[in-house]
Amino acid sequence: METRRCILKHHELDEELQLIHDELYRNFTRQVLAVAPDYFWKAPASHRNHHSEDERAVGGLILHVKRAVGVGVFLCNIFAVGSIEYNIIISALLIHDICKFGLHEDSGHSIKGHGEMVGQVLVDNKLFDPDLPDRNIVEILNAVATHMGRWDVPYVVPADKIGLIVHLADAISARSSEL
Ligand SMILES: [Fe+2]
Repeated sequence: METRRCILKHHELDEELQLIHDELYRNFTRQVLAVAPDYFWKAPASHRNHHSEDERAVGGLILHVKRAVGVGVFLCNIFAVGSIEYNIIISALLIHDICKFGLHEDSGHSIKGHGEMVGQVLVDNKLFDPDLPDRNIVEILNAVATHMGRWDVPYVVPADKIGLIVHLADAISARSSEL
C-alpha cells in the first residue's frame, strides 16, 4: 500500500511522533503537523496567564504539546487503553493546538473553538487519508474538538474516554511545572 510522502520541515516533535505505534496514524499526524500554521512552531502556549511560566515563552506551545503527550502516555497507562485508542490519543494531543491562535496567522489571543478548527485544516488540505478509516480520523478530531472542556466557549464536553484523556492531558500539562 502506497503511503503519501510528507516532508516535515520542523523536527521539534519527531520524538513524540515516534510514540505513535501505528505507522498509519503516525503518517497522518505528520501530514497534519506539516500544514500547521508557522506560528505553531515558535509561539508561546499562551499570550496571557493560562499556562505555566516556561510555556509562556517563545516555543512554549511546542513545550506544552510535548508535555501533553507525556501526560497522555501516562494516562493511557493508568486507564489501560487499547492500542487503537492509544494511537488516537497521542495523535490528537500532537495536533490539538495547531490552530490555537488562528487558522493561519497568530491573532495574539487564544481562539475559542480552536480545537474544532483542526477539522477545517484537514478539509482545506484534503488530508483525509485513504489508508486510515474515516471513523478513526473522526475520533481524533472529536477528541481535539473537545480538548478545552469547560474553558471553551461554548462549553465542550469530551464524549468518551479518549476525549477525556486528551482533555485531562492538556489541562494537567498546562500547569505541570507548577504541580
Ligand atoms: Fe493544549
